[in-house]
Amino acid sequence: MDWGMKNRLARIINPKDNKTVMLAVDHGYFLGPVSKLEEPAKTIAPLISYADALMLTRGVLRASVDAASSVPIVLRVSGGNSIVGKDLSNESITVAMEDAIRLNVSAVALSIYVGSEHEHQTLVNLSRLVDEGQKYGIPVLAVTAVGKELAKRDARYLSLACRIAAELGAHFVKTYYCEDFGKVVKSCPVPLVIAGGPKLETELDALNIAHAAINEGASGVDMGRNIWQSSNPVGMIKAIRAIVHESASVKEAQKLLK
Ligand code: R5P
Repeated sequence: MDWGMKNRLARIINPKDNKTVMLAVDHGYFLGPVSKLEEPAKTIAPLISYADALMLTRGVLRASVDAASSVPIVLRVSGGNSIVGKDLSNESITVAMEDAIRLNVSAVALSIYVGSEHEHQTLVNLSRLVDEGQKYGIPVLAVTAVGKELAKRDARYLSLACRIAAELGAHFVKTYYCEDFGKVVKSCPVPLVIAGGPKLETELDALNIAHAAINEGASGVDMGRNIWQSSNPVGMIKAIRAIVHESASVKEAQKLLK
């Protein structure tokens, strides 16, 4: 791996413990003004100093994040669909690599929809993005999206999707936690981070998932709704940080919520 690529990855995944707490606020690219992210600047401001990286679109980055901020950016560069459209898997690359470079991002992120109607298109999107990333030293995060089929979140499907993403050259992969998650980690040769998914019933549920994922080999989280839709977003990101970077137990992490 070339120096620039290694350097950018090291800005996101802390080389001291090989872990990361990424804050995901890219949801608007297909969900619009989702609850608690109606005004991205207000959601991001209190949380940004606790995030190892921020995942978002170029529109929200330019409009809602101070350019003097030193937080590494993971730029969402796929889209072209919406929650009210026919098929969430019908995504294209929506940002030129030149614009990502202009924005000084540390990585670019794109969704793949394995097993969907547009599987081929999204996998070719990933391959092309990796080619571009290799050219300029920009790491690519592949997101194993499941669309509306939440039932796909099992180890068999996620192992398949994560492995394909890695085989096509993704430098790190974002997926979901599931039963037998260790199997997903073992068969994926690049670092894996987990999304939180829709807001869980309690904060404890989200902490349990983060803890289990780290114990089973995840390199961290790229979490959104379970942090900023919580009634205590700052407490929540602090608790997640303790689990990811300080090997805190769920009980210890829970204390940070108070
Ligand atoms: C998908 O909509 C986005 O890529 C999100 O960044 C991802 O799902 C992580 O956010 P959450 O933890 O809210 O699922």
